[in-house]
Amino acid sequence: MPVLVRPENMARITTPELARAYIEEQIADVRAQVGGNKVLLALSGGVDSSVVAALLIKAIGSQLTCVHVNHGLLRKGEPEQVIEVFRNQMNANLVYVDAVDRFLDKLAGVSDPETKRKIIGNEFIEVFAEEARKLSDVKFLAQGTIWPDILESEKGIKAHHNAGGLPEDLKFELVEPVRILFKDEVRMVGKELGLPDNMVYRQPFPGPGLGVRVPGAITRDRLEAVRESDAILREEFAKNGLEGKVWQYFTIVPDFKSTGIRDGKRTFEWAVVIRAVNTRDAMTATVEPIPFELMQHLTDRITHEVAGVNRVLYDYTPKPSATIEWE
Ligand code: XMP
Repeated sequence: MPVLVRPENMARITTPELARAYIEEQIADVRAQVGGNKVLLALSGGVDSSVVAALLIKAIGSQLTCVHVNHGLLRKGEPEQVIEVFRNQMNANLVYVDAVDRFLDKLAGVSDPETKRKIIGNEFIEVFAEEARKLSDVKFLAQGTIWPDILESEKGIKAHHNAGGLPEDLKFELVEPVRILFKDEVRMVGKELGLPDNMVYRQPFPGPGLGVRVPGAITRDRLEAVRESDAILREEFAKNGLEGKVWQYFTIVPDFKSTGIRDGKRTFEWAVVIRAVNTRDAMTATVEPIPFELMQHLTDRITHEVAGVNRVLYDYTPKPSATIEWE
């Protein structure tokens, strides 16, 4: 049986050698646990599920089926990268589900943040369950549960994402090969498994994705504006040495328009808000002092390259009084 609790004397995985040893141990454990049976994994493309996928591909190859649900709230290039890395490079059994319209139709007109989150969570389970039912003889469900998830759910801080949400007819035994690892260890293991750096060192990204960065009722034009401006922000932070230095950065497109001028004509368009924060544990956060020249360059690019945007703002508010995300 796999180890379910982190042994007190377990050394922190800080070197490639320790990561390799952990991988070898897990490969043996997973093979012993699942035998010749099939395993299913919801692969979001986030750090934890990506590392679990890479590890299981190594351990059991085609016995694993990964399901990637594109709910339309992912960052630019993410679904494409999941397909490229896992299907094309690692030869995984990958089911790609384009559920964009399904999610956005359900979310149309819904402005309450909690209701939005619930719709996204429930719809995700429904889509995943539909895919699971299409496969026969699956006995195991793999999950990217990590040690802080266990600690937080024990303390009642959050219910960690687990199989609990799946309908009654889908009963699986869990495979959780990174369950006893801290986040930095998961990254170390992922790097050793050959995952690309931009996947392994990915910033925290909320489950409801870009949905929380389009406050109020999600519209396709604001969602596109968030996705495109986020891509520009990430590209410019990478070019200017801020990637890996700033803890989290992203854009928000609030649900108000303001007046502008373009080519001598009056416009009435959205504003993009830039947020860049530093923190240790996300309980409090300070704001990154972005150089003014970079702010000007970002403003220039966003107002010229992102459709329907005529204004760029910077959020100077620490946490507290604000939270990191806008909803
Ligand atoms: P707040 O906005 O509460 O965010 O200051 C703190 C950190 O948590 C991330 N966040 C989430 N992560 N699911 C997640 O996995 C969520 O629903 C969620 N909401 C916020 C946020 O990006 C920040 O890093």
